[in-house]
Amino acid sequence: SSQPKVALLGASGGIGQPLGLLLKQDPLVAHLALYDVVNTPGVAADLSHIDSKAKVTAHTGAAELHAAVKDADVIVIPAGVPRKPGMTRDDLFNTNAGIVRDLVETIAKAAPKALIAIITNPVNSTVPIAAEVLKKNGVYDKRRLFGVTTLDVVRSQAFVAELKGHDATKTVVPVVGGHAGITIIPLLSQTKPSTKFSDEEIAKLTPRIQDAGTEVVNAKAGAGSATLSMALAGARFANALVRGIKGDKNVQCAYVESDAVKGVQYFSTPVELGPNGVEKILGVTSYEQKLIDASVAELNKNIEKGVAFVKGK
Ligand code: APR
Repeated sequence: SSQPKVALLGASGGIGQPLGLLLKQDPLVAHLALYDVVNTPGVAADLSHIDSKAKVTAHTGAAELHAAVKDADVIVIPAGVPRKPGMTRDDLFNTNAGIVRDLVETIAKAAPKALIAIITNPVNSTVPIAAEVLKKNGVYDKRRLFGVTTLDVVRSQAFVAELKGHDATKTVVPVVGGHAGITIIPLLSQTKPSTKFSDEEIAKLTPRIQDAGTEVVNAKAGAGSATLSMALAGARFANALVRGIKGDKNVQCAYVESDAVKGVQYFSTPVELGPNGVEKILGVTSYEQKLIDASVAELNKNIEKGVAFVKGK
């Protein structure tokens, strides 16, 4: 709509609060609906005192989810439990899979046309879970469902700029694949402005980008995973979706249903965003086939696990 409503599910959490702050400051957002199982009145009262345009509403607990998402143009989901040291994103599966399934069940009924951006990990599996729930309700549109991989792009750009002494705000690095470990494939060869990397630099940067989340988990020593950088990435992606809705087409990397790479159903590549979400999948130009192959094998396991969770196998 011309007065975009963004619903934030998991608004009271470590990601949710700073993400709400950034969305409240986004001049394109007219209504910010905060949903969580706890603490939304306080977070909403606090944010509502900021002198920006967005109207803020609070919705607490399952009975208020319908109102939170109804008429939303964009729904951003960071609800769930975060990683602790020693855990992989996949260790979050059982708890977070159920949370995403139940949230999307209501979205399918109350906001079937919304663009849905999933942050809840493991994103490789939670996106297929959401897709299966939407399909079950007869409202799945592959153009409207996204796994947020923007943090992988943000990190790649920060690390490349740091290594090369570039201006981070002018460095562009596409990242394809999925959002965990070896499924994260930074396309360093496509860095802009055009940048040369030695084999040694690529051999160091690639695993650092792939394990960057774990760097934060370990540094936080039990207090959780990335929240502030994830909030920035989530807000940047939500803003891109809203811009697309308003007719300002733009390109972002995102984990979507895609035929960009043979043999895998969901894959992040640059996509063009417009009024209905994904307008065009721009795909991957040639990159190290070995990295793609390893990613596809792992992604297929993650995707199958998500599908089986919903289908009850
Ligand atoms: N509905 C809505 N909100 C929920 C639900 C639910 N069913 N279950 C939990 N939440 C809320 C919690 O109340 C909390 O406010 O989700 C929020 C999660 O916040 P944190 O525990 O601080 O976790 P955070 O660091 O924000 O990470 C959340 O995002 O990146 C991923 O891996 C991360 O999956 C994790 C998620």
